[in-house]
Amino acid sequence: MLFSGWASEVEAPWPDVAEVTDHVGVRHLVVTRHALVRQVLADPVRYRPDNALDAVTPMPVTALRVLAGHRFRLPPTLANNSAASHPEIRAIVADALHPARVAAQRPWLTALVRERVARLRAALDAGEPVDLYADLAADLPLLVLARLVELPDAPVGAVKEFARAALELFWAPLDGDRQVALATEVGRFHGVLREFAATGGGLAAELRAGGHPPDVVVGALFFLLVAGQETTSQFLTLLLHRLAGEPAVRAGLRTGDVAVADVVEEGLRLEPPIVTWRRVAAVDGTLGGTAVPAGTSIVLWLARAGRDPAIVESPDEFRPGQRGSRRHLAFGAGAHRCVGDVLARMEAAVVVAEATPLLDGVTVVRPPWCPDNLTFRMPDAFVVRSVERPADQ
Ligand code: HEM
Repeated sequence: MLFSGWASEVEAPWPDVAEVTDHVGVRHLVVTRHALVRQVLADPVRYRPDNALDAVTPMPVTALRVLAGHRFRLPPTLANNSAASHPEIRAIVADALHPARVAAQRPWLTALVRERVARLRAALDAGEPVDLYADLAADLPLLVLARLVELPDAPVGAVKEFARAALELFWAPLDGDRQVALATEVGRFHGVLREFAATGGGLAAELRAGGHPPDVVVGALFFLLVAGQETTSQFLTLLLHRLAGEPAVRAGLRTGDVAVADVVEEGLRLEPPIVTWRRVAAVDGTLGGTAVPAGTSIVLWLARAGRDPAIVESPDEFRPGQRGSRRHLAFGAGAHRCVGDVLARMEAAVVVAEATPLLDGVTVVRPPWCPDNLTFRMPDAFVVRSVERPADQ
């Protein structure tokens, strides 16, 4: 089966726990209800995170050889780590992303977004189309992350390309040629990270000082560079697109009747950039009445859990502040809950506050297109233009 239907818009009824067979014949249990998704996330003993970064399309020997040539390894570090080292590594990363450090970046980010919004406003007023993904959202999270965590000195474009290649290589249905091309890109950047991990300051230095081996330092940087920026730029794009179709919410933001923070939460609930996340059953058991043999891949449908009528009053409507709006599982839950949530929320709040007015009086020229992927939405563009064309056109 392909995964594109698992994005947030799915209306068809599903059982609480559904057995599906994927495009390579692997059986998964898909968990759709909020309470059951939470139950799995809260129980790292029965349901381990070890498979979080496993490739959904097994890699052919040719792609594995390319990765091995770059000495590519992804040992358990953060999201895929159920070992005793996890809390320690997590604590070092959490320090770097401490809410006080995040808050200190807000004025800088606000100024940058204002500058961009002014430029985009001028382009719209001149009748030009603007891409709110490429021209606003794509690189913002990476620029902020680089101010919080010392990162290799690589061009923004190269990091974005590597991160998107990694999301495709590990979470998309692929053919062998594409896997080799992606492995080449991912492996090459992994080499850059390996070099930086050995000598870099900040987080890399702290992980080294904590006695973590080079592979772990590389693994942590790898995950941060993917999860810590690509997810948020996807979310900003999806949220702006959603707001383009929610004039009442935009009007509420204008008058102050709708709070920015409530818009961000409702956005996370309805437009999460991470649609599913995986666990693997460690022991035989049952879940929602379904037998779960040890070793079963469990796909937690986070997007669907956010629309569970058991937790939220109007599941499919964008109603900031409605009862249950904040109970989404977009950031996961339990021991591996996202450590970047404060940062992602801050970035989204700045963009909603500063950029939403751009959406008034525009028409959507090109909505985001999202490729087939088990987990990540990966919108490619979001182009709008002013409805009012200049008099000379
Ligand atoms: C809207 C943006 C984001 C979303 C929706 C998101 C979502 C998630 C999810 C679903 C998980 C897995 C949670 C679990 O297994 O229970 C996760 C883990 C993680 N995220 Fe995020 N994330 C976002 C932004 C960020 C940012 C900005 C950073 C850091 C700069 C970050 C760093 C991490 C890390 C390090 C983990 C692994 C935590 C652990 O295993 O202990 N994320 N995130």
